[in-house]
Amino acid sequence: MRSIWLVVIAFLSLHAAEVVQVGEKYKSSGKCKACHSHIVKQWESSWHAKSHYEIDEYFQKTIDYVARKNNRKSLNTIKIECAVCHNPRISVTSTNADYEAIAALELDKNTAATKALESDTISEGINCVVCHNIDQIHDNLPEDKRGMNRVSWMKSGVMSGPYTDAISPYHKTEQRPFMDSNPNQLCFVCHANDTSEEGHRFTDMQSEFKSGTKQCVDCHMSPRKEGIAATLRDTNGKAHKRLIREHGFVGGHVENMWKGALKISARKSAQGLEVTLNNPQPHALPSGFGSREILVEAEYKKGSKTVKVESLSLTSHYLSKRGKPTIPHLADKTLEALSVPALGSKTVVLPIEKQADSVVVKVSYRLVNDEVRDLLELKNPIWSKKMAIQTLNMKL
Ligand code: HEC
Ligand code: HEC
Ligand code: HEC
Ligand code: HEC
Ligand code: HEC
Repeated sequence: MRSIWLVVIAFLSLHAAEVVQVGEKYKSSGKCKACHSHIVKQWESSWHAKSHYEIDEYFQKTIDYVARKNNRKSLNTIKIECAVCHNPRISVTSTNADYEAIAALELDKNTAATKALESDTISEGINCVVCHNIDQIHDNLPEDKRGMNRVSWMKSGVMSGPYTDAISPYHKTEQRPFMDSNPNQLCFVCHANDTSEEGHRFTDMQSEFKSGTKQCVDCHMSPRKEGIAATLRDTNGKAHKRLIREHGFVGGHVENMWKGALKISARKSAQGLEVTLNNPQPHALPSGFGSREILVEAEYKKGSKTVKVESLSLTSHYLSKRGKPTIPHLADKTLEALSVPALGSKTVVLPIEKQADSVVVKVSYRLVNDEVRDLLELKNPIWSKKMAIQTLNMKL
């Protein structure tokens, strides 16, 4: 029995964070351009490409805030924790008390940890060699082992992909089911659950997911369609026709993805104005990262004049250990979590304005709710922009 446990422990620690260096030839997307330029271009527009401290303001300010409120851990230690999913090709996966001591004195410039965080291997966030260098996904590991802690990597220079017969002069190829028949497994490596510094699970996307006919990639890449995977011609002078998907990973940051994402209806009742939000998607909305928000606004009119605006927000609020409003990553508990469940609906009631003869009901989405935007002092207008889902006009 004891020896079995030893084996299990050895296995778990082996996969705690495996690091395989990525060769110069493969580590940046620029190296793939000669033959996959269309894919590189699509990926560059995605938020996977922005997943880095220097690029995403929200990510940066969240890390700064967590480090400021935590006097046991340095900024770089927090960055390394987050890298597990946000920058999983990082070469250093943990820091120790010695590191904290030198970091506090700002003498950490030449340490492996600081160099790893400054390395261009991670500067592109979730790039090609994050997904296409994964060899195996270890779903037998505990639920909270995610990102680089859940995978093992291919040897540098081998690309995992959907095809069994792909031949490239630049790299080796290997087919993997998570690139083909079971792509949700790949997305769930990171988009599954996340836990705060206090050990509170503030998001649980995988458990709320209702599997059906569509996979994440059908909606957030594209349906499979005819095209080419590589522009390079083979020895017969032809580029292969293939079934491919787009690499834009369009999501919450893309306004036109929100159009019609929920189906809205409204009616007057004894309680007030009842607005029903139907969610045809297989995950809740808002979902994924905490503090996203769906806004329901009713603009009451008399003739063409606006007489009153009522609004209501579907979002999550978090409390710190000291009972104060905080950001998801420092939450001790979720005070309130409002969203429209997967393949379900939610009805909200807004007060009716008696003088009005009509109402415009607007439902929209915001990436960050007021509370967290204020706490982090986010500046970029994208965080407060209302992205339209649907608008209804109704006589009262
Ligand atoms: C010199 C050209 C060239 C370069 C550079 C190149 N590739 Fe490829 N790649 C190919 C060719 C050719 C194929 C096969 C296409 C086919 O058969 O349709 C391919 C196939 C692939 C596949 C699919 C593999 C499979 O088995 O399904 C992936 C993934 C891939 N490349 C990723 C990359 C990445 C990532 C880079 C940059 C680090 C890169 N490639 C650089 C030529 C290249
Ligand atoms: C290695 C971890 C990882 C894997 C694997 C991964 N993602 Fe992501 N994904 C992220 C992170 C981190 C972000 C947020 C980046 C940011 O905003 O800075 C993100 C962002 C996104 C977004 C943008 C969400 C928004 O609100 O705009 C979409 C869509 C998305 N991922 C879809 C997918 C799909 C589909 C898959 C599977 C094919 C996948 N991801 C695999 C980590 C991952
Ligand atoms: C978040 C994970 C993720 C990232 C990042 C990513 N890919 Fe892919 N890629 C996939 C998935 C999943 C497929 C399989 C699509 C399917 O079902 O056919 C794929 C398919 C491919 C293919 C086969 C042709 C196609 O378009 O379906 C090539 C070639 C490829 N990727 C190259 C790249 C390159 C080059 C980059 C970087 C610019 C990149 N990928 C970044 C997940 C990713
Ligand atoms: C049937 C289509 C569909 C499928 C399947 C699907 N999504 Fe979505 N998802 C949407 C739509 C529509 C939205 C809202 C608009 C947007 O953000 O693109 C959304 C939003 C998101 C967001 C942003 C959520 C928020 O509230 O900010 C993330 C992250 C995401 N999806 C990830 C995933 C992952 C991971 C999977 C697979 C486990 C998946 N989605 C499967 C349609 C889908
Ligand atoms: C378990 C994997 C995982 C870990 C660990 C993780 N994240 Fe994330 N994070 C994600 C995924 C996946 C997304 C995209 C989900 C979405 O958009 O709904 C994301 C999105 C975010 C966003 C929203 C970015 C945007 O542009 O809207 C912020 C901010 C963020 N993470 C901060 C952090 C910080 C800070 C840490 C470390 C303390 C961290 N994350 C650790 C998986 C992770």
